[in-house]
Amino acid sequence: MARTMQTKLGRRKFLEATVRSATTLAALGSVGYAAQGKGDSDSSRNRPDTRHEEVSPAEDLMREHGVLNRVLLVYDEIRGRLTAGKAFPPEALSGAAGVIREFIEDYHEKLEEDYLFPRFEKAGKLLDLVKVLREQHQSGRRLTEMIKGRATPAAMKRAADRKRLNEHLRLFVRMYRPHESREDTVLFPAFRALVSTQEYGALGEAFEEKEHALFGEDGFERIVGKVARLEGLLGIADLGRFTAKV
Ligand SMILES: [Fe+2]
Ligand SMILES: [Fe+2]
Repeated sequence: MARTMQTKLGRRKFLEATVRSATTLAALGSVGYAAQGKGDSDSSRNRPDTRHEEVSPAEDLMREHGVLNRVLLVYDEIRGRLTAGKAFPPEALSGAAGVIREFIEDYHEKLEEDYLFPRFEKAGKLLDLVKVLREQHQSGRRLTEMIKGRATPAAMKRAADRKRLNEHLRLFVRMYRPHESREDTVLFPAFRALVSTQEYGALGEAFEEKEHALFGEDGFERIVGKVARLEGLLGIADLGRFTAKV
């Protein structure tokens, strides 16, 4: 089943479960939360609902980080070839940079910039982290522009261009591994605690609509398929080749 269908069904179940859990919480409120001294119905509404994380906006963003990670692996492979003076199909590089531009920078990061970062800034929370994340998005866009500019057969024949490309790929991978890890482990969990369950569910719908508008109904599957083809071009599609032989 396509992710879009799974997501739709999952989100529907999430929203239905939210109503059910709200009812249950209301019924248990006087015994459960009052007994724990943790607050009233307002705080109950705003508590993180970790039971339904499998259909949350955070998981959508983290799946997109999975795509990013696979492109970083493509970049790593190309860097290895550049360092060793070996050839690689230029379309693997241009395709990878295209996924970064269209899916990560113009979609995923735009979601973070439009829906997540402003809420932290308004709430005065994690301001230093959000500032760095914003700066890194901008730096990443500049690097992608330079990488795309060198993703041509002609540029790959010039030693100076290969060297610059190698360095830009290195900087991009080095920046984005800690960037996305920090979002996964700090920003996204904090975001869940910052918004109400209702708003969280509505944001999932908004993310889904944007994804459909930009990439079509099966957009995520097509992007993953595209990255898998890029891995195939470089001979790194087989996951088993990464198994440690110990
Ligand atoms: Fe980000
Ligand atoms: Fe991100």
